Amino acid sequence: MSDWDPSSWRAKTALQQPIYADSDSLQGVLQQLGDRPPLVTRWEIDRLKTQLALAANGDAFLLQGGDCSESFAACRADPIEKKLKVLLQMSLVLVYGLKKPIIRVGRIAGQYAKPRSSDTETRDGVTLPSYRGDCVNRSPFTPEDRLTRPQNLLAAYEHSAQTLNYLRALTEGGFADLKHPENWELDFVSLSPQSDEYHQMVRGIGDSLNFLDVLGGVTRAELSRVDFYTSHEALLLAYEEALTRQPSGEAEWYNLGTHFPWIGDRTRMIDGAHVEYFRGIKNPIAVKVGPSTTSDGLIELLDLLNPEREVGRMTLICRFGAERIAESLPLLIAAVQQSNHPVLWSVDPMHGNTMTTENGIKTRHFDQILSEVRESFAIHARHGTIVGGIHLELTGNNVTECIGGAGGLSSGDLSTAYESNVDPRLNYEQAMEIAFLIAKQARVAGPEL
Ligand code: PEP
Ligand code: CO
Repeated sequence: MSDWDPSSWRAKTALQQPIYADSDSLQGVLQQLGDRPPLVTRWEIDRLKTQLALAANGDAFLLQGGDCSESFAACRADPIEKKLKVLLQMSLVLVYGLKKPIIRVGRIAGQYAKPRSSDTETRDGVTLPSYRGDCVNRSPFTPEDRLTRPQNLLAAYEHSAQTLNYLRALTEGGFADLKHPENWELDFVSLSPQSDEYHQMVRGIGDSLNFLDVLGGVTRAELSRVDFYTSHEALLLAYEEALTRQPSGEAEWYNLGTHFPWIGDRTRMIDGAHVEYFRGIKNPIAVKVGPSTTSDGLIELLDLLNPEREVGRMTLICRFGAERIAESLPLLIAAVQQSNHPVLWSVDPMHGNTMTTENGIKTRHFDQILSEVRESFAIHARHGTIVGGIHLELTGNNVTECIGGAGGLSSGDLSTAYESNVDPRLNYEQAMEIAFLIAKQARVAGPEL
C-alpha cells in the first residue's frame, strides 16, 4: 500500500486524542515505546483471522468480553484469573449449546483508553478534564489526577505486558483445565427459573469432557491448554503507531500491541484518522456499529477497510440498544448482503442499553441486554445471516453494576460493589447466565437459534 504508513493518520482529523502539554516528553515516550518488543506475534494474529473467518461463515462463534476500561490497579492475579475463568466457563457452555468452536477474546491487556462524550466533567461547580482511561490520566476528581501524562503510555504498555504474560501462563497450564465444572460457582443457578436445565447442562458438559478423556483421542494436555486472544479499542493513535511493526522480512504492517483492535462508535468517520490507521494494518479488525450508522456509510467503510473482501478481516460489533435494534439492524444487513462484503456479525448488547438511575449511577438492565441478544439472533435468522459472535462488558468479580439477572439485583443494590470507572459490567453470575440462555435457546432452536 504505497499511500499508507503507520503515521499517515497524522494528516487526518483524529478525534478523542488527549492533549499533552509537554510534547518533548511525549516524543521521548513514543520513541521508547517504538523500541520495546511487540506484545503479540503475527502468527497468532493470522491464526485468529482464520478462526474469525470460520465464525463469519457460522462454523465458529466469537466470545469477546472484559472490562469497559481496564485499570492499572486491577493488574493483579485475582482479577485476571477471575476474568479468564468466567470467559473460559462461558465458552464451555457456548460450545455445548451452539456445537461450534468458540473463539475466546478478552477486552484485556491494553483496554486502557476511553472515548468520552465531553472533554470536561463538572462536579459541584468545579470543572476538570474528563477521565480518559489509565493510559491518559487518572480517575479521581482532582486537578492533579486529571492531568494527561505521557508516562502513562509506557505504563499502559508495561501493564499490558504483565497481564498478557500471566494470561499466557494460565492458558498454557493447569488453570485452563476445563474438566472440573464442579468447581464452578453456580449457586445462583438455583435461583433461576431455568435452574433444572442449567444444572443438566453443567452435568452434560462434565460428561462430554469425561468422554473425551476416556476416548483418549484428545490428550489431557490438549484439554488443559486453550487459545486466548487480546483486543482493545485502538483509540490513542500515537500509542498504536508505536506498536505497529513490520515483522522481519515482511512487506505487511501489523499492530503487534494486540491481536484484534477495534474502532469505536465515536471515531469511525470515513475521512478520519482512525479509519486511515486501520486500513493499513493486517490484523483482523472490528468496527462498532450503532444507530447513527447509515447503510451507505457502512458500505463505504467496508470498501475502504476490506477492499480485497478477505473473510475474517472485518467484524461488525453492533450496539443499537434493545429499543432500536429492530429498526436499525435490518437495513444494515440488507446493505451488506447487497454489497457482498464478507463480515462477522457480532452483537454488543451493552453500549446501546446504558442508563442512569435517579441517584445518578450508570447502569444497564439485564433484561434489556438479553432482549437485544435475542432480537439480534431473531433478525439475523429472518435475513438468512448469522450472528457470529457476542461482545460483553463483564468481570469475574461479584460487582453490582448491572441490574437484574437471576440474583435479582435492584437499583438499590448498585452501591454495594460498584467498581467500574466507566461503564457498568455484568458480574460473574450475570455473565454465566447470558451464556446459559444462549446455549439453552440454541439447543431448543437448532444451530441458527
Ligand atoms: C466501549 O466498548 O467501551 C465503547 C466505548 O463502545 P462504543 O464505541 O460502542 O460506544
Ligand atoms: Co464501555
